Amino acid sequence: MAEKKEVVETSEAQIAVHWGEEAYYEPSAEFIAQANMTDSGIYERFSLDNFPNCFKEYADLLDWYEYWDTILDTSDAPCWKWFVGGKVNASYNCVDRHLAKHKNKTAIHFVPELEEEKTEHVTFQELYVRVNEMAALLQDFCGLKAGDRVTLHLPMTPDLPVTMLACARLGVIHSQVFGGFSGKSCADRIVDSGSNVLITADSYYRGGKLIDHKEKADTAVAEAKKAGQTVDKVLVWQRYPGKNSTPTPMVEGLDYFTNDVLKNYYGKIVEPVRMPAEAPLFLMYTSGTTGKPKGCQHGTGGYLAYVTGTSKFVQDIHPEDVYWCMADIGWITGHSYIVYGPLALAASTVIYEGIPTYPDAGRCWRIAQDLDVNIFHTAPTAIRALRKVGPDEPAKYNYKFKHMTTVGEPIEPEVWKWYYNVVGRGEAAIVDTWWQTETGGFLCSTIPALKAMKPGSAGPGMPGIHPVIYDDEGKELPAGAGKAGNICIRNPWPGGFQTIWGDRDRFVSTYYERYCRDKNSKNWEDWPYLTGDAAVEAEDGYFRILGRIDDVINVSGHRLGTKELESAALVVQEVAEAAVVPVKHDIKGIEPDLYVALKPGIEGSDEIAAKISKAIVDEIGAIARPRKVWIVPDMPKTRSGKIMRRVLGAISNKGDVGDTMTLANPEVVEEITKMVQN
Ligand code: WT7
Repeated sequence: MAEKKEVVETSEAQIAVHWGEEAYYEPSAEFIAQANMTDSGIYERFSLDNFPNCFKEYADLLDWYEYWDTILDTSDAPCWKWFVGGKVNASYNCVDRHLAKHKNKTAIHFVPELEEEKTEHVTFQELYVRVNEMAALLQDFCGLKAGDRVTLHLPMTPDLPVTMLACARLGVIHSQVFGGFSGKSCADRIVDSGSNVLITADSYYRGGKLIDHKEKADTAVAEAKKAGQTVDKVLVWQRYPGKNSTPTPMVEGLDYFTNDVLKNYYGKIVEPVRMPAEAPLFLMYTSGTTGKPKGCQHGTGGYLAYVTGTSKFVQDIHPEDVYWCMADIGWITGHSYIVYGPLALAASTVIYEGIPTYPDAGRCWRIAQDLDVNIFHTAPTAIRALRKVGPDEPAKYNYKFKHMTTVGEPIEPEVWKWYYNVVGRGEAAIVDTWWQTETGGFLCSTIPALKAMKPGSAGPGMPGIHPVIYDDEGKELPAGAGKAGNICIRNPWPGGFQTIWGDRDRFVSTYYERYCRDKNSKNWEDWPYLTGDAAVEAEDGYFRILGRIDDVINVSGHRLGTKELESAALVVQEVAEAAVVPVKHDIKGIEPDLYVALKPGIEGSDEIAAKISKAIVDEIGAIARPRKVWIVPDMPKTRSGKIMRRVLGAISNKGDVGDTMTLANPEVVEEITKMVQN
C-alpha cells in the first residue's frame, strides 16, 4: 500500500479555483415585501432538535388522499422512507388540484426555437386533458401499470411533461434520458430499468436545424435487444403532428405516432392512482465512479413535498409568477424545477426548445420580455456564454426579474456580478443552489429574503439540511477552519433518493460507507450522506463548493463519469489505454481531455483521433466530446502500472506536474508536456 499516495487522481476539486470570500449583497426591500418566506424562525423550526418532524411543513404543501402516520421510517437504514402510510398522487398535485382556481391560467409556455413559430400556451385545463388522454393510452394501449418502468427519450416540448405526468398519474415509473444522449446511452438505461416501452420524438430544433431524433430510437431498441431487453412498443411524438419530419422510417408493428394513437383516447379521464408516499416516482440516471450509470430512484411523497417546498421558499414561486428555468428536463434540475415544483405550486413554467443564443445573443431576453418572465433560473455555463456573446444585450430589452437562480457548478464571482448587475439590473435576488441528482432538491442555498447573497458561495444549508465537512480521517472541520474537506449531510431529508435502482449495495457503499459509524445502526445519526464534493465552510456558515472528489467531471453543469468516457474510447479497436482528465474552460467550466495509448505497432494519426472522438459521441452523446484526443506514446504510470491521471491533469491545465521520479516511466512526462503545451 506504499503506492497509496501515488495513485491519487486529478479531481475537479484539485483544479478548482479558490476564490476569496466576497462581500454580501442584500436583497431589495421590494423583493422582501413580496417574498414567500420572511420568517427567520424557519431555521430554528428546522434545527436538528426538531428533526424529522419539521418536514411536516413541507408535506402539508401537498394534497393527500390519506395522511401519513410515520414521518421518517429508518428501519431499512440507510434507505429512508418518508411520510409512510400516506397516499398521494403527483399528477393530481401538479394538475387536478389547480383546476378549481386556475384552470384558465397558463401552466406551460412552450417557446419553439424558431422565432417565427408562435409560443404555445397550455392552460391547466388543457394540461389536464392531455395528461389524462396520455395516461389512458399508456394504460390501455401499452398495458402499463403502477410500478412498471418506461424509458422516455424526449426533447424539450410540452409532450415531455405531459408524458411524465401521465406516468405519475398511473404510478408508472418514468425514466427520462436526456435528449442529447446517444441511442446507445438510451439503450443502457432501457436495459438497466427493464423498460418494455420507449417514448421518443421524431425530431426537434436545435441551432436552427431540425434534428433527426428517431434514428436514436432505432439504435436504442437494437442495442437493448442485444443486451437482452426487448422493447415492444415505441411511441413517437411528432414535432409537427401529422407531418413527417424525419427521414428515419417507422417500424411496422413496433413504432406508433403518439399523436395518432391518442385520437382513440379523446376525452378519456383516468382517475389518479393513490400511490403510497414511498412508491418510486421516477428514475434519473447519473454518472459515477464506474462506467455504469446509476439509476437514482426518487420517491413520490417525499420528493414532491421537498421540491414543492424548496420551489416556494427558495425560488419564491407564487401562482402568478412566470418562471423560466433554462435547464433541460432530461436532467434532475428540469424534473424538480421545471416540472414538479413549479406545477405543484400552480405557476406558469416556461419550456424553451432550443439553445439560449439562437438565433442571436438577445434571444433569452426577448423571451423574458415577451412572456414577462419574472423568475429566471440557469447554470453558470449559460451565464458565461451569454456574457461572452452579448454582454450588453440584456439592457436592450424590457423585462424585470425579481429572482434568479444559478445551479450546477461553482460560479466565478466575476460572472456572478455580471448576472447580478446586468441580467438582474441589481434588482433581482440571486440564489446559488448546490445539490445533486441524488438529492432531489437543494442542499445549500440562501433563502432569498432571509440571508444575504455572497458571490461564489452557495450559502448555508437549507432549513432541515445539516451539512458537515469531514477531513479524510473523519474529523469535523468547523466553520472558518479555512480548510477544504468532504462535504456530507448529517441527516436524511424528504427529497433524497431512495436507492440506486437494482443496486442497493452500490447505494450504500458509494454514499454511506465512508463515514458510517455503525453499519447495523437504524439510527440516522450514524449515517452521514457523502456528497462526493469538496467544500469549505466560511465563518458565517456559508459553503463554497470546490468540485468533485471522485472520478466525476462536470461539463457545462452536466455530470460525466471519466470511466464512461474511457470505456467509450476503448470501443475503438486501435486503443490500448485511455485516460480522461478535467481541463478548465472559460464557458463550460470544465472540459474533458482524452489521452490514449494505441496498441503496439499502430501509428497515431488524425483519422484515429477523429474516430475516437466520434466513438465517444456515439456511445454517450455530443456533450461528452473531448476537447482533444492526445495520442501519446505511453501513459505516465506508477511502478504498479496505474495510470497517473494527476500528472496528465496537470499537463492539460498547464500546472505543476510535481515529483515524477517515482513513476515507472518519468521520461514520457516531458514528451507529453511538449505535445500538449507545445
Ligand atoms: C454536482 C451534481 C444539481 C443539479 C445540477 C447538477 C455540482 C451542483 C452546484 C453549485 C457548485 C455545484 C457539484 C455536485 N454542483 N450545483 N451551485 N455550486 N457546484 O446535478 O449532474 O447530479 O451534479 O454538480 O459538484 O456534486 P448533477
